[in-house]
Amino acid sequence: MANDNKLQNIIAHCKEYGFVFQSSEIYDGLSAVYDYGQYGSELKKNIRDYWWKSMTQMQDNIVGIDAAIFMHPTVWKASGHVDNFSDPMIDNKDSQKRYRVDHLIEGFAETLDKEKGDALLQQMDQLLAANDFAGIKTLITDNKINCGVSGTCNWTDVRQFNLMFSTEIGSVAEEANVIYLRPETAQGIFVNFLNVQKTGRMKIPFGIAQTGKAFRNEIVARGFIFRMREFEQMEMQFFVKPGTQKEWYEHWKETRMKWHLSLGISPDKYKFHDHVKLAHYADMACDIEYDFPMGFKEVEGIHSRTDFDLKQHQQFSGKKLTYFDTDINQHYVPYVVETSIGLDRTVMMILSEAYEEQDLTTDDKPDSRVVLRFPPMLAPIKLAVLPLTKKDGLPEIARDLITACKPHFKCFYEEKDSIGKRYRRQDAIGTPFCITIDHQTKEDQTVTIRYRDSMTQERISLASVKDMILDKIKMF
Ligand code: GAP
Repeated sequence: MANDNKLQNIIAHCKEYGFVFQSSEIYDGLSAVYDYGQYGSELKKNIRDYWWKSMTQMQDNIVGIDAAIFMHPTVWKASGHVDNFSDPMIDNKDSQKRYRVDHLIEGFAETLDKEKGDALLQQMDQLLAANDFAGIKTLITDNKINCGVSGTCNWTDVRQFNLMFSTEIGSVAEEANVIYLRPETAQGIFVNFLNVQKTGRMKIPFGIAQTGKAFRNEIVARGFIFRMREFEQMEMQFFVKPGTQKEWYEHWKETRMKWHLSLGISPDKYKFHDHVKLAHYADMACDIEYDFPMGFKEVEGIHSRTDFDLKQHQQFSGKKLTYFDTDINQHYVPYVVETSIGLDRTVMMILSEAYEEQDLTTDDKPDSRVVLRFPPMLAPIKLAVLPLTKKDGLPEIARDLITACKPHFKCFYEEKDSIGKRYRRQDAIGTPFCITIDHQTKEDQTVTIRYRDSMTQERISLASVKDMILDKIKMF
């Protein structure tokens, strides 16, 4: 299956089976905003839970918080987002279409042979790192990079556009009432650094984690849930002694890569990409890239943010944000190493990895299935219970099994259609285990378990089902 097709097929499958819908679809949708349906929201929640447990419960020195989306407007002045959180854009004068210059050039590079494409991207990286926007425009025009809509090369100068959404708080629309929807969750952690450190009696090195919505007015929003205007982040700020940031940066690169591999994804589907142009707050930064259907793209960022944010908040708020290190009897502003992963992008990664179209044709019968091979711990539904018929007391046994299992994991009951059809529907939503209750169950208290990936079946005792599934879906 060509990768382009794979992405389109995943999008169609997500809609057909209740994973992801376009926002406000009955009004023709809202660009780059998506809603999660009945299975998508379960999948997303399970991924969030796995991250949260890995980053808080399984760590000795990381605690979680839940900060508000709205923050004092000065936060964004201090963090540098008001002045620096922008992307270089260029407009085509004929079509009026606006492009992020890196996306425009990257798109063009993909049409070239590898050597030429790589050379062009290298030139682009150097010019962007030097903030040489005139040079970027020359690169675009020299390479005759056209607008996809007008087909012309009639470009404006390259300009910076801020990505933050603003709104007003209170009833009077004055300058002072303008606030922003947070473009990252991290600042909610920075401004609570001392609250958590003091009330939690935390000793450096320690971390604060949180998950939550972030908003960016992405100009070029594409790639399904890869780049959205409203999305969710899972971030952790790790506060360290100045001078130790390099070793913690390496530690978190390794730890986060292990987390990705623990999802059962092969190492050759990942690579690190070191940033050439560092964000205004970073002294080292890299992305973990995953091989999405549209190629290797960032799923997570690991950033050594120095003491930039805490120092800025100290200066703008006039409040001291230092830590007293009893080991060395000194006050200092800690350095921070951040891990920042997009939840929606992780959902897309898990979907891309899990989606498989299988040809099951045998000599005498054409057959196929679409299966989502989710890791069982992340699957929206863990167990489907299917009575063979609607009578003879089989539904009652099935309902009893669900009653026993549902406090522990998400179950699904279905009695319509042939067993084969019911199995295929569960494959399509990624249910790892199906239990069939048949007439033999009444005689010997055994059931058939059918495994999604191998499609094999075996007979097990009804009484063992709950513990067996619990064992197979455990996260740690
Ligand atoms: N606090 C640091 C920070 O926000 P970032 O690299 O801008 O760093 C971190 O974002 C992660 O958030 C990205 O790796 C990506 O997974 C996710 N992300 C960023 N913008 C996104 C968007 N428009 N839609 C979906 N996810 C996005």
